[in-house]
Formats: sequence, C-alpha cells, structure tokens
Amino acid sequence: MGSDKKVAIVTGGAMGYKAGGNSIGGAVSIRLAKDGHKIVVVDLGEMGQRTVEIIKENGGEAVFIKADVTKTDEVQKLLQETKKLYGGLTCLVNCVARYSPGMAKNVAEISEEEWNETLEVNLNGYFKMCKYSIPLILESGGGTIISISSIESFISLPNFSVYSVSKAAIDALTRTMAVDFAPKIRSNSVIPGFVKIANSENNRTPEQLEAWYKDVAKQYPMRRVCEVEEIANVVSFLASDQSSYINGQSIVVDGGKTIADTHEF
Ligand SMILES: NC(=O)c1ccc[n+]([C@@H]2O[C@H](COP(=O)([O-])OP(=O)(O)OC[C@H]3O[C@@H](n4cnc5c(N)ncnc54)[C@H](O)[C@@H]3O)[C@@H](O)[C@H]2O)c1
Repeated sequence: MGSDKKVAIVTGGAMGYKAGGNSIGGAVSIRLAKDGHKIVVVDLGEMGQRTVEIIKENGGEAVFIKADVTKTDEVQKLLQETKKLYGGLTCLVNCVARYSPGMAKNVAEISEEEWNETLEVNLNGYFKMCKYSIPLILESGGGTIISISSIESFISLPNFSVYSVSKAAIDALTRTMAVDFAPKIRSNSVIPGFVKIANSENNRTPEQLEAWYKDVAKQYPMRRVCEVEEIANVVSFLASDQSSYINGQSIVVDGGKTIADTHEF
C-alpha cells in the first residue's frame, strides 16, 4: 500500500448518542477523513452512521461497521471487511470507553463484575483491536496505532479506580507495541484531560453545562476546557509522517493541568 492509500479504523467513532453531538472518536474520524484517510467507523452505537454522513457531506469516504471490540469474532470480521472494502489498513485509532455508574467506585467498593467488565472494554478491547489489526497493517506496508488514554493514567479522580488502571495499562500497551513493531508500525497514545463531549452532558440544561465547564476550567491553566477537535488535531499529527520519529510516546493534551502547581508562595 502506498502513502496515497490511507485507511484508518476508529473505534468509538460514533457521534454522541445525545442527538449526534460532539465525541472524540467522531472528531478524530472526521479529521482523518479530511487528511485523506478512508475511514472505518467502529462502534456499538448507531450514531456511527451519523459520523459517516458528516464525512461524506465533506467529500470523504467512510463506512460504519457496528461491532463490539470485546468480541473476538466481531473484531476479526470487521478487519476482514476493512480489507475487502479498502484493500488494507494503515492506521488504527483505539477510542472506546465504558462508563457505568457501578464502575465509578473505589477499590474496596467496586464489584468484581464491574472491575472485569470495564477492563474488558477499556483494556482488552484495545488489545484485541491491536492484536488483529497488526497483521493487516504489516501486510499493508506499515502504519500507526494511536490509543486514547487519559490523565487518569497518572493522577486519580476520586472513585475512578478501574478507569485509571485501564488507562495506565493502555500507555504500557502503547510502549510494548512501539518496541516490538517499529519500524513498520509506530505506536503512541494521546492523554486528554477533561474534554467537552455530548455523552457527558447528561440532563444538564445549556446554562448548567456552561456553569459546569466554567467550574472545571478553574483547574486548567488555559482557563477553558478542551474541544474534541483539539484531540483530533494531535491524532492527525501522530497518524501523519510529520511525527515520523515519534514512537512509544504518550502525548499529554491537558492545557497544562498536570504540570501546574497551585499553592501560594
Ligand atoms: N471525554 C473526556 O473528557 C475524556 C478525557 C480523557 C480521555 N477520554 C477518552 O476518550 C475516549 C473517547 O471517550 P469519550 O469519553 O469521549 O466518550 P464517548 O462516550 O463519546 O465515546 C466512547 C464510545 O465508545 C463506544 N463503545 C463503548 N464500548 C464499546 C464496545 N465494547 N465496542 C465498540 N464501541 C464501544 C461508545 O458507544 C461510545 O460511542 C475514551 O478512550 C475515553 O477514555 C475522554
């Protein structure tokens, strides 16, 4: 596959289930399509079709495959379909996440089921996508893998135990693949702080949302929260030859939150 043939799979690529609003995976899909990739949007949610519509409205090429990244047979099937449709694969973006009220608990309180189910999606889903994509990326002449981590990988939100563990593991997964598959495949992760997405709006009114974002922004030196496009820009860079010597890195995109000290001197 030459560099003129760019094919990307974006898992968690659906627009937000709330009226097709913003999502990180949707923004990444739309941006990579603008960069010239053919896009395979993978998600459990029907809003994956909305992402494809937006890409097509902008003149890009994309297909939605509804699949569960935790199911080996569905992962294998979506890779076969990708090969059949577009002839190969040059980029994988892992962007799914499982959120449930039951997983937002500390280590003593979380049930074993919630712990395991969250790791099944947030870690094993990433592993399976990598495991079954790597042979196709190699067969296609090489490419890039980009996984979406989180600052929870190295700082801890109260009662977010299993999520933090899954994100730290994703950064380690990123490094082990960077060592094992370079120079054919570069592997990097992106570490966002708080990002404005439709799925976390819940039932807040527009006024309540603005107040919430303003409150969260107080913890960020940039004094505002991150837009989905600001994550997509970094994924676009990591997927391109502009980052040709960046491998095994986790790029923090948090407006300076995690390097900021707060006490008065
Ligand atoms: N939103 C934030 O503030 C923020 C901050 C840091 C990191 N992240 C990360 O960004 C990524 C995108 O998530 P988001 O928070 O924007 O939420 P989101 O709900 O917009 O996206 C997650 C998507 O994953 C899909 N999904 C869940 N389980 C799946 C499965 N088994 N198979 C296929 N698809 C599945 C969901 O349907 C959803 O569309 C995640 O990796 C998340 O951990 C988000």
